[in-house]
Amino acid sequence: MRKPIIAGNWKLNKTIAEARELAAQLTENLKGIEDREVIIAPVYTALSAVAEVLENSPIQLAAQNCYPEISGAFTGEISPQFLQDAGCQYVIIGHSERRHLMAETDHFINQKMIKVLETGLKPILCIGETLQERENNQMLEILSKQIKGGLANFTTEQMSTVVIAYEPVWAIGTGKTASTEQAQDAHFFIRGLVQELFNPEVAEQTRILYGGSVKPDNVDSLMAQQDIDGALVGGASLKAEDFIRIVQFEI
Ligand code: 13P
Repeated sequence: MRKPIIAGNWKLNKTIAEARELAAQLTENLKGIEDREVIIAPVYTALSAVAEVLENSPIQLAAQNCYPEISGAFTGEISPQFLQDAGCQYVIIGHSERRHLMAETDHFINQKMIKVLETGLKPILCIGETLQERENNQMLEILSKQIKGGLANFTTEQMSTVVIAYEPVWAIGTGKTASTEQAQDAHFFIRGLVQELFNPEVAEQTRILYGGSVKPDNVDSLMAQQDIDGALVGGASLKAEDFIRIVQFEI
């Protein structure tokens, strides 16, 4: 059985005070939640403050990115070790906004994945095709390239903490959710690829999250799909009421 994960990616939103307040609302309303993992990813500057609020709460903390070195002359960057020091358990890697706005490559993403694992943090590897790639029938090729690139040189042991998030770029922040069939088809393909690259056990235990306009009114049907093991939520994770409802999905 794969334990579902609902993760909120706050992107570049919420000051420290606002982040504390939202985290406090979530801890208050999501006490004792055990059958699903809940993760929130505030901006770097709010991580320590939110970590304090999350103490004694089952909600876990994630960063939105990292640099693939531990420390040194890397001005302006942050490493997995420093994220761990700030209280993180997870790190989002290769989000489409970073791939497209910061030109992150699969190789660079792979280096980050390796460093995150070395530190003992858990990576959430994001993949997904653009609308043009989907319309050109390149979706499977793109997903395959991103999975093979991001997980290059990974062993089956290393895969035990890797989470994958399928986020079709055309569904992010657009209000256009992939249909449940489109999402399930992509997740089924990704799981098959993980099986091909590793083995059936790894494929069976790897959690694959869906991201792209997940809302309170579509989460239940998405989560009912066999290969959808959770959600990576952007916009709707910024409102306590919406995110709480998403965490409380029912299938
Ligand atoms: P939205 O939920 O706002 O579409 O964002 C999805 C996302 O990018 C989560 O990482």
